[in-house]
Amino acid sequence: MMSLPIFCTVADLRTQVGDWRRQGLTVALVPTMGALHEGHLTLIRRGLELADKVVASVFVNPTQFGPNEDFAAYPRRVSEDAALLQEAGASGLFAPTVAEMYPDGFSTTITVAGVSEGLCGAFRPGHFAGVATVVAKLLLQAGPDVALFGEKDYQQLQVIKRLVRDLDIPIRIEGVPTVREADGLALSSRNAYLSAEERAIAPAIHRTLSAMAEALRGGADVASQEAWGKAQLLAAGFASVDYLEVRAADGLAPLQTVDRPARILVAARLGKARLLDNIPV
Ligand code: PAJ
Repeated sequence: MMSLPIFCTVADLRTQVGDWRRQGLTVALVPTMGALHEGHLTLIRRGLELADKVVASVFVNPTQFGPNEDFAAYPRRVSEDAALLQEAGASGLFAPTVAEMYPDGFSTTITVAGVSEGLCGAFRPGHFAGVATVVAKLLLQAGPDVALFGEKDYQQLQVIKRLVRDLDIPIRIEGVPTVREADGLALSSRNAYLSAEERAIAPAIHRTLSAMAEALRGGADVASQEAWGKAQLLAAGFASVDYLEVRAADGLAPLQTVDRPARILVAARLGKARLLDNIPV
């Protein structure tokens, strides 16, 4: 089998996508920061159902990390990623350098108000501006028909949907349900930060969210469920809970009662890791 083409410049990426377009082929884009796992590969496989060609990007985007976050420590293993992408059926990997994405003089930031505020936005100032800016660039660089994002990062997915609508970017945004371990832990590149003991505690997140969803469907009170869930996580061994909230599934408005499709979203700290999860109600 020919090895997976890797594009390091926007120009090379555009040449390839242009060739496919001239052949009448459709294209899907799967943006990632690499250290690929089964969650990412599920996005690739879903992309192959929606388009003829799937390109993944691997770029650890410095502008979405805060000064005390894990940008330097974030796992980087592009050759393993390329092998996994090829096996999953991808047709190309875009792996730009920081200088290619942010050349000298780079000055533009995209801020998405509303959905970026609260939840992770409250704990990671500037994070979603970094995400919105890099995703807008990736979408405009690749020019795919469809781009796929995981529900694992539910607030991010909402930010990207808002961005694409607001800027009239003619690309369909497809959300993909969260891929989990057998015990319910959502797959994440950051699970590698967990010790064996912490890894045993981590599934409490999904257990707790599932119990809350069940209770809320049965008519339980939102505020008391949020308080109950936080107490459960702390009792299970989490160091702290950044937030655990019930929000409207579409647009993330706060909810007093579950009177429309809702989402329970959580970020909680365990050792060096900050684990994120969410489920529908
Ligand atoms: P990253 O964390 O690498 O995730 C890339 C994509 O994979 C995101 O859309 C994310 O939601 C999805 N994903 C991660 N874990 C998943 C799981 N367990 N199940 C389903 N999908 C999962 O998210 C980013 O990178 C970056 O912020 C990015 C969008 C690439 C911008 O830099």
